[in-house]
Amino acid sequence: MRVIYTSTVLILIVAALTFGLKYDNFEEFVDMVEGNISAAENYTISKDNSDILNQSSSAVKDFGTFDFIIIGAGAGGGVLANRLSEILEWNVLLLEAGGSPDDFTKILGLSAYTYYSTRSWGYNVTSQKHACLAANEEKCIFPQGRGLGGGTTINGGVYVRGHPEDFDRWVSVYGNPGWSYEEVLPYFKKSENALFEPRDSYYHGEGGYWTVDQCLSTPTVVDLFKPLFKEKGIDFIDDYSGKYENGIAQYQMSLKGNERVSTYSAFLENFTSRSNLNISLNNFVTKIAINKATKTAYGVYFVKDGVNYFAKAKKEVIVSAGGVNSAQLLMLSGIGPKKHLKDLNIPLVKNLPVGQNLQDHVMFIGLIFRTNRIFYNQTMAEMLKLYEENQRPLMTGYSVELVSFTNFGRNQTIRPDIEYQISTPPPSGSQFEFFFGINDSFVEAININTSSDINLFIYLMHPKSRGSITLKSNSPLDKPLIDPNYFAEDEDIETLYRGVELILSMNNSQILKDYGAYIVDVEYPYCESYEKFSKDWWLCAIKYFSYSTFHAVSANRMGPDPKTSVVNARLQVYGMKNLRVVDSSVLPELISGHITAPVLMLAEKASDIIKEKYNRH
Ligand SMILES: Cc1cc2nc3c(=O)[nH]c(=O)nc-3n(C[C@H](O)[C@H](O)[C@H](O)COP(=O)(O)OP(=O)(O)OC[C@H]3O[C@@H](n4cnc5c(N)ncnc54)[C@H](O)[C@@H]3O)c2cc1C
Ligand SMILES: *[C@@H]1O[C@H](CO)[C@@H](O)[C@H](O)[C@H]1NC(C)=O
Ligand SMILES: *[C@@H]1O[C@H](CO)[C@@H](O)[C@H](O)[C@H]1NC(C)=O
Ligand SMILES: *[C@@H]1O[C@H](CO)[C@@H](O)[C@H](O)[C@H]1NC(C)=O
Ligand SMILES: *[C@@H]1O[C@H](CO)[C@@H](O)[C@H](O)[C@H]1NC(C)=O
Ligand SMILES: *[C@@H]1O[C@H](CO)[C@@H](O)[C@H](O)[C@H]1NC(C)=O
Ligand SMILES: *[C@@H]1O[C@H](CO)[C@@H](O)[C@H](O)[C@H]1NC(C)=O
Ligand SMILES: *[C@@H]1O[C@H](CO)[C@@H](O)[C@H](O)[C@H]1NC(C)=O
Ligand SMILES: *[C@@H]1O[C@H](CO)[C@@H](O)[C@H](O)[C@H]1NC(C)=O
Ligand SMILES: *[C@@H]1O[C@H](CO)[C@@H](O)[C@H](O)[C@H]1NC(C)=O
Ligand SMILES: *[C@@H]1O[C@H](CO)[C@@H](O)[C@H](O)[C@H]1NC(C)=O
Ligand SMILES: *[C@@H]1O[C@H](CO)[C@@H](O)[C@H](O)[C@H]1NC(C)=O
Repeated sequence: MRVIYTSTVLILIVAALTFGLKYDNFEEFVDMVEGNISAAENYTISKDNSDILNQSSSAVKDFGTFDFIIIGAGAGGGVLANRLSEILEWNVLLLEAGGSPDDFTKILGLSAYTYYSTRSWGYNVTSQKHACLAANEEKCIFPQGRGLGGGTTINGGVYVRGHPEDFDRWVSVYGNPGWSYEEVLPYFKKSENALFEPRDSYYHGEGGYWTVDQCLSTPTVVDLFKPLFKEKGIDFIDDYSGKYENGIAQYQMSLKGNERVSTYSAFLENFTSRSNLNISLNNFVTKIAINKATKTAYGVYFVKDGVNYFAKAKKEVIVSAGGVNSAQLLMLSGIGPKKHLKDLNIPLVKNLPVGQNLQDHVMFIGLIFRTNRIFYNQTMAEMLKLYEENQRPLMTGYSVELVSFTNFGRNQTIRPDIEYQISTPPPSGSQFEFFFGINDSFVEAININTSSDINLFIYLMHPKSRGSITLKSNSPLDKPLIDPNYFAEDEDIETLYRGVELILSMNNSQILKDYGAYIVDVEYPYCESYEKFSKDWWLCAIKYFSYSTFHAVSANRMGPDPKTSVVNARLQVYGMKNLRVVDSSVLPELISGHITAPVLMLAEKASDIIKEKYNRH
């Protein structure tokens, strides 16, 4: 498997000449891809963190002193590291537990395979009672990005900001001044380099680091679904990040040419030579150093290649370890629920509801449209050839095509309840099972025809259920316990069912018949006790085939009261000095869409908040 990028010089020349993966030797490119796919198929997910954490020596070495130490180079940490190191007199240390992204990760259409590799933390949720029932041990897989770019290096690349009401609620419902839609819109625009047309330029930035583009949808898919949704009162809109979010639209993607845009490619890759930015890889941060008397964070402890280190922070420690790991790290450092820490023998520094209020979008994957057309039936090598020409199906994560946001007919000022994700199936059969960790004995039930079917996934945008992140023990070797507690509140499954009903009502449409298409009658043998197609039968199906979407938010949510929140509106940890959290864990609640864009916005705004504090603009 000798691929051309082993020559750094050559890749630089190639990269300078053109975007996109261009391999001189196409067969080597195919080998690289197929090698990664079979490695994923054979990968065993480690039960704990021993695959990257090795505390062999007890001595602690000094790593030096920095103004700011950022823990985690994901969506939030990547943006922050760039923006803070714009101030030349500040020394910034960015510590990342994983490694560098590689070329395989640039192909959005194969991202599911990266979940089964060292590029992911390889988590599962705890056994669920009302969802994930067709997953192994009722535990949905829950990958989280590990390495430069974090989630943005392994995710599906879908770009959605949410609805203005989402951010207005951060102020009106959750009491966080400064975060209304009007106030955050400039930060969405700041990062952005929007290329797709048509778009509403009032809402979009140009020339920023983060390229947002579209991959034109497969014509048949558009011709079928546009009128089908129109019949239900859902209009086609050009730009769901513009004036209106509710409607049906082409997906906007974090995509430059045919390559994934990550916080590594956008915010770090071009800046590694900044002398005041030190990016250190393969560092597992195990604890925040805190002066207990003054409750001041002054550094971090981490392990790199089996050696223990301490690095000192003169100004601030910023936790950007992601929706799951930030809560884990705070608790390991003594910041968290008093009782839980006591049970685990972790000395308490500050009693805060860390890990509480966890939310994730849950989605139903059991609706499949079967057509008499063939969309994509190429071999992997043929698809890679198309990919080199910026053609589907490998251009988007999970081959997403169209998206619809709906609030069931209310006006545009109201945020959507449901997101419909319409996609041609992922380009190889195994990928479907890979996405969801489906128990082999349930795979038969959802028997997808990968060349002629269309998947329609239904996301619940605003779950009422709240879950938690807790520690299994006081050791960083143990993976944290993630319980999203899906459908704990009945209202959640009812709302999702409304979303299912709306789609089922399309099954009789003449438009569908014109395409020889229909909604597959999936067999759910375990729901046999209910009358077929009755509401109870569907509720049963939903419980079996509803899955995690890996949008962990709110475990360290921002709010005005330390009894119910962990950080204030300036993202400072309550009761602590020199300690902030800047990542998805501080979102007060889920927004109407995917999470990357809001986290980029959050980190852009956080950078300005920090610069203002020290009078550097
Ligand atoms: C599989 C998947 C698919 C997704 N699909 C989409 C999508 O299509 N569109 C979208 O908008 N969003 C998507 N998301 C969500 C989005 O990627 C995440 O919400 C976003 O990356 C979160 O940013 P973050 O900064 O909170 O954390 P992350 O991006 O997760 O970054 C956290 C970083 O911290 C590092 N870290 C963690 N613990 C430690 C430690 N102890 N020491 C050192 N470093 C540490 C991690 O390795 C990681 O690099 C997806 C997420 C996943 C996982
Ligand atoms: C996966 O792809 C990377 C390049 O992106 C390559 O370095 C690596 O060898 C590949 N892995 C396998 C197992 O083929
Ligand atoms: C993966 O496993 C299959 C079958 O067990 C084997 O043929 C293949 O060589 C393995 N691939 C890798 C990269 O180990
Ligand atoms: C998580 O689930 C996957 C897929 O079902 C399984 O392979 C893995 O062993 C599980 N991991 C843990 C830590 O339970
Ligand atoms: C941890 O140390 C053991 C023993 O020295 C070694 O076999 C293993 O590969 C190391 N793991 C990592 C992730 O460094
Ligand atoms: C980062 O800091 C470490 C520890 O002080 C030092 O060894 C390394 O050379 C620094 N790297 C850069 C790029 O400044
Ligand atoms: C898979 O499902 C079968 C049938 O319900 C069950 O017997 C088996 O225990 C499940 N396996 C796992 C790993 O959950
Ligand atoms: C990185 O630098 C190259 C060369 O100047 C430029 O073409 C590219 O657009 C830059 N990337 C970003 C994300 O700004
Ligand atoms: C998938 O659908 C196509 C088009 O209808 C059909 O030709 C093909 O036989 C189907 N494949 C399977 C495995 O059913
Ligand atoms: C792929 O689809 C085309 C029609 O679009 C058909 O002619 C061809 O036989 C199909 N190939 C395979 C391998 O099914
Ligand atoms: C939209 O609906 C809400 C709630 O029904 C209502 O209060 C508001 O006035 C409506 N706005 C417009 C512009 O019609
Ligand atoms: C959709 O309609 C087809 C007939 O056109 C029928 O076979 C199928 O069972 C229906 N699907 C559902 C989910 O009702």
